[in-house]
Amino acid sequence: MAQNEIIALVTGVGKETGLGFAVSQALMSQGMTVYVTARTQGKAEKVASLLNAAGMGTAVPMALDISDANDISVAATKIDAEYGKLDVLINNAAMTSPYGELAASADMEEARAVFDATLFGTWAMCQAMLPLLRKSDAGRIVNVSSGAGSHGDPVFGLTTGNQMGTSYAVSKAALNALTVRLALEEAESTVKINAVCPGFTATFEGGEAMGARPPHESATGVLWAATLPEDGPTAGFFRDGEVLAW
Ligand SMILES: NC(=O)c1ccc[n+]([C@@H]2O[C@H](COP(=O)([O-])OP(=O)(O)OC[C@H]3O[C@@H](n4cnc5c(N)ncnc54)[C@H](OP(=O)(O)O)[C@@H]3O)[C@@H](O)[C@H]2O)c1
Repeated sequence: MAQNEIIALVTGVGKETGLGFAVSQALMSQGMTVYVTARTQGKAEKVASLLNAAGMGTAVPMALDISDANDISVAATKIDAEYGKLDVLINNAAMTSPYGELAASADMEEARAVFDATLFGTWAMCQAMLPLLRKSDAGRIVNVSSGAGSHGDPVFGLTTGNQMGTSYAVSKAALNALTVRLALEEAESTVKINAVCPGFTATFEGGEAMGARPPHESATGVLWAATLPEDGPTAGFFRDGEVLAW
């Protein structure tokens, strides 16, 4: 390991078009070594080779399903053996629920699956990686959340009567709450934990035509939270570096 090598891990980097890919690229542009993780080794290797072709930083492919406790444990053991620390954890992976899904009629099995990945998978990742993050001089966790889980977002928020799937929105609200609890528990350590909404991002077909912005623009606010200075905030919820209402 090179002296001062900064090690990051991003979850859910299965697609070149996804936010996880753009965030990995942004971290690599800062010279970081990034474990780019996806549900299968094949997907992780494909995106890592695309990222490495750019010649900035290093992408290391890793299979990681955040709903699988064994995968998480293997990942933590590997990072510990290879670097003995983790500097940045980006919890980007999430499951969405169908557009228009209603609280009164949601399929409870589907809703549980959304919570299993978005909330419990992220929670388990935080638990497994915190011991490694505490070994960093400046450990940072970014929980990629959504305005859908905000009471104050005037467009996508919980109180706006939009068509965002209920289990997606409620799981992101729970993720925000988890972020606060974890961050306060780490108040005496050097680890900062924040939730970040990337904004409406064109990671799906037709997204740009609907007004969504390119992933590299949304990645900027995630990079900001991943590289906060010592006097930067913790236990917050942000979009593009600005406070977002809970
Ligand atoms: N796009 C937006 O407008 C927007 C707005 C607000 C917030 N966000 C948030 O931004 C993040 C990235 O979203 P995106 O737009 O890039 O969506 P996406 O393309 O659907 O990315 C989500 C990724 O998470 C992965 N994933 C799902 N369950 C997983 C699990 N159990 N283990 C590991 N990986 C898992 C998916 O893997 P597979 O490829 O294997 O399915 C996928 O690659 C999400 O947290 C999302 O909620 C997005």
